[in-house]
Amino acid sequence: MRALTWQGRHDVRVETVPDPEIVNPHDAILRVTSTAICGSDLHLYDGYIPGMRSGDILGHEFMGEVVEVGSESTLSKGQRVVVPFPIACGECFFCKKQQFSCCDNTNPAETSDATEFQYGYPMAGVFGYSHLTGGYAGGQAEYVRVPFSNVGPIVVPDHLEDDKVLFLSDILPTGWMAAENCEIEEGDTVAVWGCGPVGLFAIQSALLMGAHRVIAIDHYKSRLALAKQLGAEILDYREVDVREALAEMTGGIGPDAVIDAVGLEAHGISIDNILDQAKSMTFMVTDRIHVFREAVLSVRKGGRVSVPGVYGGFADKFPVGAFMEKGLTMRTGQTHVHRYLKPLLEHIEQGKIDSTFLISHHAPLEQAAEMYRNWHDNQDQFTKIVLKTEMAMPKAEKKEQQHELA
Ligand SMILES: NC(=O)c1ccc[n+]([C@@H]2O[C@H](COP(=O)([O-])OP(=O)(O)OC[C@H]3O[C@@H](n4cnc5c(N)ncnc54)[C@H](O)[C@@H]3O)[C@@H](O)[C@H]2O)c1
Ligand SMILES: [Zn+2]
Ligand SMILES: [Zn+2]
Repeated sequence: MRALTWQGRHDVRVETVPDPEIVNPHDAILRVTSTAICGSDLHLYDGYIPGMRSGDILGHEFMGEVVEVGSESTLSKGQRVVVPFPIACGECFFCKKQQFSCCDNTNPAETSDATEFQYGYPMAGVFGYSHLTGGYAGGQAEYVRVPFSNVGPIVVPDHLEDDKVLFLSDILPTGWMAAENCEIEEGDTVAVWGCGPVGLFAIQSALLMGAHRVIAIDHYKSRLALAKQLGAEILDYREVDVREALAEMTGGIGPDAVIDAVGLEAHGISIDNILDQAKSMTFMVTDRIHVFREAVLSVRKGGRVSVPGVYGGFADKFPVGAFMEKGLTMRTGQTHVHRYLKPLLEHIEQGKIDSTFLISHHAPLEQAAEMYRNWHDNQDQFTKIVLKTEMAMPKAEKKEQQHELA
């Protein structure tokens, strides 16, 4: 089959690789129909996440048709399913508490040691996300093996096309959980850093949950325009001092809740960010936490901090004093996607949520490497890329590729 493989920093390629096979009785094999590139994939592309090996198949946002099932899978051939990006067993202490992304049974012992060492306890398995999370092949491929297929995938009705349901795999529940973690109360103002797909869905969710105002921060005009379209007020961090602007907009007290939908690769030329960058080059820190700091310092006293943005290692100058003295609450984590599939599918079916607005590009899987470059270099034009396995390559490029292969 064809699949997008990671080869090294800024080097991904579509290659022919062996087809996946059923390994365990609860496995299923999907023929992938749609798969998306995520902001989290950028962290792999940029080489921030350790534990990647040359040839690893990427992709944790995917859906498709069931083509093979193990003896204990509850799925049947022919069903159309969306698959959550964390792999959960459904039986352990954490799964029973609905904390699916903390599952204790899906990261094999041989790969879980590294996260146990780094985080104190091993992490759950995740599709296409390094050998720290199990080394599972991802879904940016023609076919994918889905372990624990009796727990994760949700069957979607035929009348909802792929684009309407694909984001149930990750970013839609992630934006939702980010807003839920803000514990929004009537009259609340929520500030959201990052107007990528996660930030945009967090904005949409916060408004649906009753936030009075949402203030969105980014610098890409097209992404800010989408945030505004959703009903947010917007701030360009290149044009204003974000902390001052937020204080001014909230009568001097700061937003009630803040969402960091940026994560470890914060941009911007603030002094702290430049220092983080310099230190990360010498491995004194791994993560650039400028947005995290700004969010903690901007939120009102007694406010809530929600962090869907991914962090992986260690950071410098976390304002722990502000965090404690202001009496803040923080909630974060990889999304417990399984928990949100049913209610969010219902919202989609009822027309309360239409997640298609942020798809800027469709492309054939064969063009995935080029799409990664675009996603990395031109975020102002590429809001979200959906790769289609059955979409044909444009003729000219097909010829070029055949030429290269010859
Ligand atoms: N917790 C989870 O389960 C989960 C799931 C999916 C994605 N994520 C993470 O969420 C984050 C966002 O994902 P995405 O797909 O939207 O990514 P993205 O790269 O498309 O968006 C990030 C946005 O942040 C903006 N940004 C950068 N620096 C900023 C700053 N200083 N101030 C304000 N905005 C700034 C960028 O301009 C960009 O628009 C990533 O870290 C991703 O890994 C987490
Ligand atoms: Zn993702
Ligand atoms: Zn579990």
